[in-house]
Amino acid sequence: MTHEARRGLTMRPLIYAANWKMNHGPAAAASFAKRFLDLTAPAPERSLWFFPPAVSLAVVSQAMRSRPDVLVGAQNVHWEAKGAFTGEVSIPMVHEAGAGVVLVGHSERRHLFGETDEQVARKAAAVLRAGLKPLVCLGETLAERESGRTEHVILRQLEPLLEKVPAEEWARLVIAYEPVWAIGTGKNATPDDAAQVHELIRFTVGRRGVPGRVSILYGGSVNAGNVIALLARPELDGVLVGGASLDPDGWAELVGLGAGS
Ligand code: 13P
Repeated sequence: MTHEARRGLTMRPLIYAANWKMNHGPAAAASFAKRFLDLTAPAPERSLWFFPPAVSLAVVSQAMRSRPDVLVGAQNVHWEAKGAFTGEVSIPMVHEAGAGVVLVGHSERRHLFGETDEQVARKAAAVLRAGLKPLVCLGETLAERESGRTEHVILRQLEPLLEKVPAEEWARLVIAYEPVWAIGTGKNATPDDAAQVHELIRFTVGRRGVPGRVSILYGGSVNAGNVIALLARPELDGVLVGGASLDPDGWAELVGLGAGS
């Protein structure tokens, strides 16, 4: 089946998600937005998601308000709505600042800040309850891949999510497969490697009664040189990009690649 035929069948546009991590405070985010808006126009076959740091959320969502193809999101939230949790931000707060989606369980949250599979699932369920969309990240480390434990790790990360998120709510949840060894290393997973894990995730959630086809993005060293080959695989619904999303000109070029390829 051609790429266009698949798009037509699923009616699902490709998602190009930019995770800025701890880059672009309010002033830099505003100038990024201005330049990016000058360079791009809405396109029916793609959806553009931006994850600025929390302090830049409001600036970016204001700047992008005229663009129906853009969704702005938070990089992390607490599962409680308010209270004595110094340094945390809540789902109602990021929603008020313009977030429609929340990144949950990014590998840097898991590995640098000790978030557990259980906490990740709790956050995803809270985001859904609040009416926002969680983009839940999964992925194995290099040691886990090399010791043949990729499948085991993916299933372990999925399990609490399957327990906490009711099957009918998975239609609003998006997964990002981000192998830890590919993040920021310049070494992306091959389209075959990524497709294989995407299929494993779909098979696993389908077997547990989740209806329909769950959307799954790939992330890890995606750039303008590899995005077309990755998105040519029908198992991928889009990409989640760190380094290559930081420059507005480069990001505008990248989001013009892959759709309809
Ligand atoms: P890089 O694109 O810099 O490898 O980062 C990927 C990532 O972590 C996106 O969430």
